Amino acid sequence: MERTHIEADKTIAKRANLQSYENTKELFTWDHALQELSQAPSGKWNAAYECIDRHVAEGYGDKKALLFTDGDHDETFTFAEVKHITDGYAHVLKESGVKVGDRVFIFLPKSPACYFTILAAIKAGAIAGPLFEAFMEDAVRERMQDCEAQYLITDENLVKRVPFDDVPSLLKTWDIEEFDREAQQYEDADSPIVWLDEQDGMLIHYTSGSTGKPKGVLHAQKVLPHHLITGKYVLDVHDDDVYWCTSHPGWVTGSVYGVFAPWLNRATVVIHGGRFDAKEWYSLIERFGVTIWYSAPTAFRMLMSEGDLYKDFNLTSLRHLLSVGEPLNPEVIYWAKDVFNARIHDTWWMTETGGHLIVNFPSALIKPGSMGRAFPGVTVGILDENNEPLPANEVGKLAVKAPWPGLMKEIWKNKEKFDSYFTDNGWYLSGDTARIDEDGYVFFEGRDDDLIKTAGEQVGPFEVESKLIEHPAVAEAGVIGKPDELRGHIIKAFITLRHGYSDYDGLTEEIRQFVKTKLAAHAAPREIEIVEELPKTKISGKILRRLLKQQEIEKMQKEVASEWQKKNA
Ligand code: PRX
Repeated sequence: MERTHIEADKTIAKRANLQSYENTKELFTWDHALQELSQAPSGKWNAAYECIDRHVAEGYGDKKALLFTDGDHDETFTFAEVKHITDGYAHVLKESGVKVGDRVFIFLPKSPACYFTILAAIKAGAIAGPLFEAFMEDAVRERMQDCEAQYLITDENLVKRVPFDDVPSLLKTWDIEEFDREAQQYEDADSPIVWLDEQDGMLIHYTSGSTGKPKGVLHAQKVLPHHLITGKYVLDVHDDDVYWCTSHPGWVTGSVYGVFAPWLNRATVVIHGGRFDAKEWYSLIERFGVTIWYSAPTAFRMLMSEGDLYKDFNLTSLRHLLSVGEPLNPEVIYWAKDVFNARIHDTWWMTETGGHLIVNFPSALIKPGSMGRAFPGVTVGILDENNEPLPANEVGKLAVKAPWPGLMKEIWKNKEKFDSYFTDNGWYLSGDTARIDEDGYVFFEGRDDDLIKTAGEQVGPFEVESKLIEHPAVAEAGVIGKPDELRGHIIKAFITLRHGYSDYDGLTEEIRQFVKTKLAAHAAPREIEIVEELPKTKISGKILRRLLKQQEIEKMQKEVASEWQKKNA
């Protein structure tokens, strides 16, 4: 039987913080923030205070704030301990001259120190610039140069990738061990908190679009209600939850939903140091009793390709999972329901949007293939080429009525780029294409130019990829439109095979027939190429369809050239 939706589990839905989507008009209200953010009434606040110090002041100092493991050893920190450490760190920064608005970069592996230094920079009033630990020299240079970073906290390994001569703005660099030692002298000092205005900067993340240099997306303190309220209703944090976000804070999911949103809601946060390892991940969930788990489709697909491994672990603590960053294939949602007995809640947002905008709530029905519905109070639309709204079910540009609390404050020193996101009639353009059904569920189609027209028919690559990975032999798939004289484009699929499968005569034809019979004849790839791995973005692991397409076109051009040479030799 074809499965078309997944209802919310009754017990979970009843306990969820948001129980009715339909009756909830607006959640991002100032009143709402006032109830939750202790310092909001004063008009001055500090995100780091609201994440940590407030809970200590309210009597939760002994609650576990952080559980860390790198596979070999574990560490635990209470909220009081995190307050103490981040206070000391903030004092070091202030004593060294850090002022409101200065850029303090943090280049550390995923570890407690990475989280603590981010918070300390914010306590001191600075803008924290977390860098992804896998960045190499060029990536570090471009980012630190662009916003003229003045301070850097790193470690003895990563420091080797910092091109000091090219970042003349840099005033001081600390090795984390030395930084930690300097903090000892502030044992009994007063609170270092610098109270800030809502427009003061707090975090800078660089997004590397498909073209051009990375852009510095600046989040201001005003994002706080967005983080707090989506943390409460979408992550659905309760006091007994153990929450794990697998992303490094150098990526926006790892900062907003790794650090801020969970800690604003007093969650016990898990950090796993090190790379993906299926066994270690499953064992972490079992050992720490993870209840809420935020990761990405690629990670879920990798676990899926491990087959029965999950059976060796007790994963019953999981209440729900969340996903972001790339399309979540329905197949993955059904797999999770079967093996974890928990739903995956897809979320859509961008570095620039500062927080969730399209979501699934624990209390509401999921339509697999859809990213969910607009967060209450957010207006999402599908626009035509004149930026006018289209009716239900028509595919067009995915846009959001601006502003909302999390929306970036600026693109660092690039007003032109910032302005290019907004239309004259008040919409923010995401660059994605999508459609919205009659119930308000949003279905992702692709980035602006990912859609495939083949023989006059529109095909979303995501749909084809989802179908491909339902075939038992296929682990991952990237689908592009390959230029074709007769059809405009034909569909070409690049696939990797699951463990235990190797190429055999007739396999690609079998897969083609599978899509043809399951999805649609016009959507079945005419060409399927088996590859060792698919090109992906370094940070979020999104499959780079554009690169696949570019490589394919170059290959075609070479073939044409060599034909021509043969004929004219
Ligand atoms: O194309 C959309 C895709 O990721 C883009 C934003 O990327 P980034 O700024 O790196 O932020 C990722 C995490 C916040 C979007 O324009 N994207 C994000 N969420 C989804 C998604 N694509 C499909 N489904 C999603 N849930």
